[in-house]
Amino acid sequence: MDQKNDKVDLECLGNDEIPRHIAIVMDGNGRWAKKRFLSRTLGHQAGVRMVHKVLERCGQRGVEVVTLFAFSSENWHRPQEEVSALMSLFVSTLEQQTEALHEKGVRLRFIGDRSAFNRKLQSEIVASEQKTRDNTHLTLVIAVNYGGRWDILEATRMIARKVEQGKLSVADLSQETIENQLAFPDLPEPDLFIRTGGEVRISNFLLWQLAYTELYFSDTLWPDFDGNCLDLAIEAYAGRQRRYGRTSVQIAAGAKVPVAL
Ligand code: IPE
Ligand code: IPE
Ligand code: MG
Repeated sequence: MDQKNDKVDLECLGNDEIPRHIAIVMDGNGRWAKKRFLSRTLGHQAGVRMVHKVLERCGQRGVEVVTLFAFSSENWHRPQEEVSALMSLFVSTLEQQTEALHEKGVRLRFIGDRSAFNRKLQSEIVASEQKTRDNTHLTLVIAVNYGGRWDILEATRMIARKVEQGKLSVADLSQETIENQLAFPDLPEPDLFIRTGGEVRISNFLLWQLAYTELYFSDTLWPDFDGNCLDLAIEAYAGRQRRYGRTSVQIAAGAKVPVAL
């Protein structure tokens, strides 16, 4: 678990010790607000402010992709006023921040079921993806109305349709066939998963994609999770040995392990 005041020195880490892709469950906004006798909405607003700091640090560290869980398919079950506040915050952040992210070279992508959003929001999402699509500094994937089971179900539907149309045969199905239909087939799988806020669960985030991701859980509430907390997570990642089923002796013998499952 992280100690917020520990300063971390990551300068000595090699490139392969820095995660290429970090996926984050930003949890704890509500508890952060409650501790301060503030509304949950203010907690969510504080959470958005922290996104910028963490993204900046990710960019400095050479992380290529950051995926943020902003709203799960289960979050619709929250009280109506909280859902509305979260949607308004999503719209206003998108409107206010796209330009700034663009200037910083961030490529924006969205994953999740967009059909639940109104037309205007759907077209704003597409516009921000189009505007930023050639940026190369960092890819920011926002998961809104996303669920890992939904992702796998959608992939299954696409594949079944192709089989039905005779474009694909059942005998040719492979893991790659499924991967290619999932949310971000063109991006590397997450190397590091971070969940803030003390809960130790995945909550229907990237179920397929997290198969061999290193998991890191922090007690720090998301609005307090600053650049130093991120560095601590990266330091913990750098200390892990990713074996993909092999032994540590095999890994120590030098074989770079590809994700061939
Ligand atoms: C995470 O913070 C943000 C979203 C789910 C949108 P929470 O709102 O879940 O915060 P806690 O878990 O109640 O503290
Ligand atoms: C997960 O957080 C979803 C997001 C951070 C968007 P929750 O707070 O909704 O997760 P549970 O309900 O505690 O599992
Ligand atoms: Mg929560």
